[in-house]
Formats: sequence, structure tokens, C-alpha cells
Amino acid sequence: MTPPSADRSKGRNDLKRQIRQLESIAALSGGIAHDYNNLLTAIMGNLSLAMEHVTPGSPLATFLEQALSASRSAKTLTRRLITFSKGGQLEKSPTDIVHLVENVAAFSLSGSNINIQIGANEGIWPAQVDFQQIGQALHNLMINAAEAMPKGGTVFIDFENVTINGGNSILSAGRYVNIAIRDQGMGIPAEHIEKIFDPYFSTKNRGASKGTGLGLSISHSIITKHGGEITVCSRTGVGSTFHVLLPADTGPQPIVPEKPQRNERYPGKPVHGKGKILVMDDEAMIRELVGNLLNHLGYEVDFAEAGEIAIRKYQAAMHASQAYDAVILDLTIKGGMGGQETIGQLKAIDPFVKAIVSSGYAESPVVARYEEYGFCERVTKPYEIIEFSQKLDRVVRQDASRAHPPTETTAS
Ligand SMILES: Nc1ncnc2c1ncn2[C@@H]1O[C@H](COP(=O)(O)OP(=O)(O)OP(=O)(O)O)[C@@H](O)[C@H]1O
Ligand SMILES: [Mg+2]
Repeated sequence: MTPPSADRSKGRNDLKRQIRQLESIAALSGGIAHDYNNLLTAIMGNLSLAMEHVTPGSPLATFLEQALSASRSAKTLTRRLITFSKGGQLEKSPTDIVHLVENVAAFSLSGSNINIQIGANEGIWPAQVDFQQIGQALHNLMINAAEAMPKGGTVFIDFENVTINGGNSILSAGRYVNIAIRDQGMGIPAEHIEKIFDPYFSTKNRGASKGTGLGLSISHSIITKHGGEITVCSRTGVGSTFHVLLPADTGPQPIVPEKPQRNERYPGKPVHGKGKILVMDDEAMIRELVGNLLNHLGYEVDFAEAGEIAIRKYQAAMHASQAYDAVILDLTIKGGMGGQETIGQLKAIDPFVKAIVSSGYAESPVVARYEEYGFCERVTKPYEIIEFSQKLDRVVRQDASRAHPPTETTAS
């Protein structure tokens, strides 16, 4: 059965307003997570630097290792907050949809009495989606499934590649991926099924836990914004199946973002090196941290607070025949030119510039597909000395002309 298409303009306006409100809350919490991540970068970076100065196995080394281990857990939490809190414009990219659904299901249903059963998914096409927003849409469906089975049960998730020929008023012709999410819950009575996608329709209004009735309307809005469709089949006493149809990506293989290391140490040892590095970051504490890290590792360092200054310094160093061996650019600079625009301009000055993008947004297209944007490497905040030094060493020692032929930078 398809979602109701009767006149619901009042409901739609309410929904739009509500979505705008949710988006500004999401932007606010995303901003807090971003600031928190910068603090965590300074904490973890300095702890890992302090570890370099203590005797291995000493009591001080143990305390520092414990503090580092706690910050690694905080890193996992912040990453989740950043992933789930960004609203606003759709930022679509080819996405491994099976991987995304598995992650969302595990995250949404963790700690509940619900099992997850994922069906065969070999050869499922990647989807062309904004993974954060689709993640939110799927999360709402998982929560509803769990709430429909208060005594526990299983959520079955199946995937299917679908080709639509001809198209219709809702879907264009083309390739899609269908995700079926089936629960063993109480089902939806026939008199409710036409209303469940309406804003504020909720049957969860008894007792302390009231539903807002916005979960499904938000999922519906996100999925249709993607050119997809959400439909439902349900039988009372048996369960409900939500089908989510999303446009498949027709391009090359999706790029999966670098997986956060779950509370683990980056393998290997810090690598020392030499050379001159330009560090651009708007946060004084990050500049200080990176300066200390680089000095400890044996590098010389210069700083810039924003892109404009980085470009001036880079140009001046080139003219003085004292070019930088690498630049580390923060992706987001408050009120100034960020990493993406800066690399574009640096490439115009020096097509062989060796740059590392640094950001807390691991899933940002610029970080996930850093090479397309002209970077040689990425570091995701918060980072520790081992990862940071190994990546920088690889970049500094790279033969720039071979490693990175000049290309046009891609705009997002
Ligand atoms: N899997 C499901 N099984 C049974 N009923 C469902 C299921 N999913 C949705 N419903 C029905 O649709 C209604 C609307 O769902 P929706 O997610 O929009 O709001 P909610 O879950 O009530 O509140 P909120 O999502 O804000 O917590 C629910 O109250 C419930 O009656
Ligand atoms: Mg809900």
C-alpha cells in the first residue's frame, strides 16, 4: 500500500516547519559535537605526546594509557553524534547501502531485546544517497519495529536490486535498491494504515512514553527527497514490513569512509622525520598541539589561522626557495577560507603541493574522497601521534610529481 496522497497541505506545512526545527537542533548539536571533537583532539594528541616522554611500563605510563583509552571511547561517542546530527542539504554520494543498513540496525537496536537477521546481499548495488539522512530515516523504522515488539523478537532485513522501466508519477525509470524491514509486532490496523505517514499521527500516547508521531513523516520526507519511495504492508497480530526503495548509483564502486578504530590503538610506532610543514587551523589549541607534535617528530613548523594566510605564506616560501614539504589543512575554518577552497588555490600556485586534509567529519565527501579534491592524505580528528606521524611521513617522502599528477579540483 502506498502512502496516502490525499490533500494534506496543513499537515505538510506543519511537517516542513517541524523538519526545519529538527534541522536547526541537528545543526546545533552537530556544532557542539564539532567543538567537543576539537577539545578531544587536544586531549588525545597531548596524551599521546606525553606517552613519548615516559618510561614504558612505569606507573605514569599506565595512568596515561588509561586516560588515552577513555578518550578513545569518547572519540567513538562523538563520531556517532556527528554522524547522526547533521541535517540540512542533501549531500549524496555512492554509498554501500548494505553496510549502512547493518550499522544503523546495530546502532538503533543495541541493548534491546531484538535480534537482527540480515538476508543475502551479494551483488546489491550501491545507492546514491546522503548517508546521514538515510541513516536517520532507517533509524526511525528500526525504532518503530522494536517498539512494536515490546516482548522482543526479530527484525528481518532483506535487500533486492530493482529495475523500473517506464517510471510513474512517483518514481523515475531506472535502477533502485529495495530494503525490506520486517518485524513480528502487533501490526497496523486497516483504519490506521492511511494515516501513519501523517505528521503527529501516533498511537503511542498512553502512559509515560508518548510518541510525537513524527518518526515516519520524517522518514517519508527524507526518502522522497531522494527520489525514492516508502511503502508498508501489515497484518495485525502478524507484523509489518516497510519497503524502502532508493535510487541505485550507476557510477563506479562506492568509496567507504575510513572506519573509525573502535577504542583501539593505531598500530605501529611514531615515525620521526624532517622537513618544513605549514599547519592551517583556526583553533589555537590545535595549532599548539600540532606544533608540539611536529617539533617532537623533528619537523619545522609554520602556522596559518585561515586559508588566505596559508596561501600568502605558501607563496612567500616558494619565492624564497624555501617551499614547504607538506601542508596540513583543516576542512572547516570558522568565518574564513577552509581546506577545500584553500587546496584549490594552492594547486593553482603549485600543482605539486602535498596536502593533508584534517577534519572531524570522517564521512564528509572531501575527507572520504580526499584524492579527488587534490589531497594526498587525510587525518580525522581526534588523532594520536602514531597515526599522525606515519601518514605525514608517507606524504613528505612521496615523489610529488609521480604521486599526485595535477588535476582539476572537484566542487562538492
Ligand atoms: N512497525 C510498526 N508496527 C506497528 N505500528 C507501527 C509501526 N511503525 C509505525 N507504526 C504506527 O505508526 C504510528 C506513527 O509512527 P511514527 O514513527 O510516525 O510515530 P511514533 O512512533 O508514534 O512516535 P515517534 O516516532 O515520534 O516516537 C505509530 O504510532 C504506530 O501506530
Ligand atoms: Mg516512531
